[in-house]
Amino acid sequence: MATFFLLLSLLFFSASAHIHNVIRVTDNPADQLVAALNNNRTAKKEPTLYDNPGLGCIALQYIKAYRGDCNVLGGDDAKKPFDSQFADTFAPNCGVTASTLSKITGRLVACQSKYVEPSKAFSEILMKDSKSLEILYSKNHTEVGAAVTGTDGGGPYFWCVLFSNGKSNSSFTLEGGEAKITKPGCFSGANDVCSSANGWPRSLTLWSYIATAFIAVAYAFGL
Ligand SMILES: *[C@@H]1O[C@H](CO)[C@@H](O)[C@H](O)[C@H]1NC(C)=O
Ligand SMILES: *[C@@H]1O[C@H](CO)[C@@H](O)[C@H](O)[C@H]1NC(C)=O
Ligand SMILES: *[C@@H]1O[C@H](CO)[C@@H](O)[C@H](O)[C@H]1NC(C)=O
Repeated sequence: MATFFLLLSLLFFSASAHIHNVIRVTDNPADQLVAALNNNRTAKKEPTLYDNPGLGCIALQYIKAYRGDCNVLGGDDAKKPFDSQFADTFAPNCGVTASTLSKITGRLVACQSKYVEPSKAFSEILMKDSKSLEILYSKNHTEVGAAVTGTDGGGPYFWCVLFSNGKSNSSFTLEGGEAKITKPGCFSGANDVCSSANGWPRSLTLWSYIATAFIAVAYAFGL
């Protein structure tokens, strides 16, 4: 009888541990985006990129610098945050040690009025262009950080992937070892459950009905 209970509780324990792990990955759209990206690289026999939480947090700051303005992201007069903002604003906001900022070897940024699942954001928005595939499969990257956020609790939704060639244990390191969780928005690598409980994503369905569809994308090697 005692053995039976022991087995039963072991079974229960491992089952709940398993469920817990699953929730950790699926409850953060930025982590899901990195998973989709790494799956795609693996299928091309490219090594998996390290999901660096410091770089993920910086990716979130990067899209926040657009202040929700989707119009300036793509097109002929596209704007991007200044390189100096990495050290001046993004790193301190994230608790990233400025001296460990490493070279950005690529970026993919997109915004769209409508929220879509991370796997769709990857394949249907970020990977729409042959240039983006070239960036994805580049041999220059060793690590990645991704982020997603809405604007004022609704659209437009910004997706950002930053690539770097830094060493995983010594680049974008976090003071005190922990990423500063800055809401709203979600970023990858921090084992942070980022879901509707945090006000994200909010009123997705309603927004997708009332929004006029628009989309803008920017791809670049380096900054
Ligand atoms: C990788 O992504 C590209 C662009 O979405 C797609 O065409 C390709 O089929 C994907 N490869 C795999 C193995 O999923
Ligand atoms: C990779 O890095 C090298 C050296 O910095 C550079 O010349 C090359 O253009 C990069 N390749 C890509 C695909 O970014
Ligand atoms: C970081 O990793 C490199 C190689 O992957 C290793 O040589 C180095 O000792 C590591 N540094 C620390 C501080 O763990």
